[in-house]
Amino acid sequence: MNKTTRAELIRRAILAKETSYSPYSQFRVGAAVLTDDDEIFSGCNVENASYGLAICAERNAIFQMVFAGKRKIKVVAVSTDEPTFVTPCGACRQVIAEFADSNTQVLFIAKNGKTKTVKFSAIFPTPPTLDKLKKKR
Ligand code: THU
Repeated sequence: MNKTTRAELIRRAILAKETSYSPYSQFRVGAAVLTDDDEIFSGCNVENASYGLAICAERNAIFQMVFAGKRKIKVVAVSTDEPTFVTPCGACRQVIAEFADSNTQVLFIAKNGKTKTVKFSAIFPTPPTLDKLKKKR
């Protein structure tokens, strides 16, 4: 990922946080995914009065990507208002794994704009592969 793309990915993740619907937790999250063909899709977390129905920003962004017909994630960027780096929940890691490869990266953006990039495989080393369920398309 070149410098311009990286800056744009970070900008889009921070911007997505602005539309976060998080009246219950007040925990705003914005995510942006960079595809293998260098397109960016973003999303925010959307909560619900039935708490368990909340959708995380990461999955929201990934589903936008899938709806646009894209299937490969190069980088997932996550922005919060926390001073520390917030990592994706287990459910999001599983969904990222569906569209990741061994080079996929996760880019964390803390409140102060500080960033940290890790390999996705470092935070999800042994994805459960459901070998019986063969992908057809
Ligand atoms: N959340 C995300 O959107 N992404 C994360 O990586 C962590 C958690 C959301 C879910 C919920 O709306 C709020 O943050 C508090 O957990």
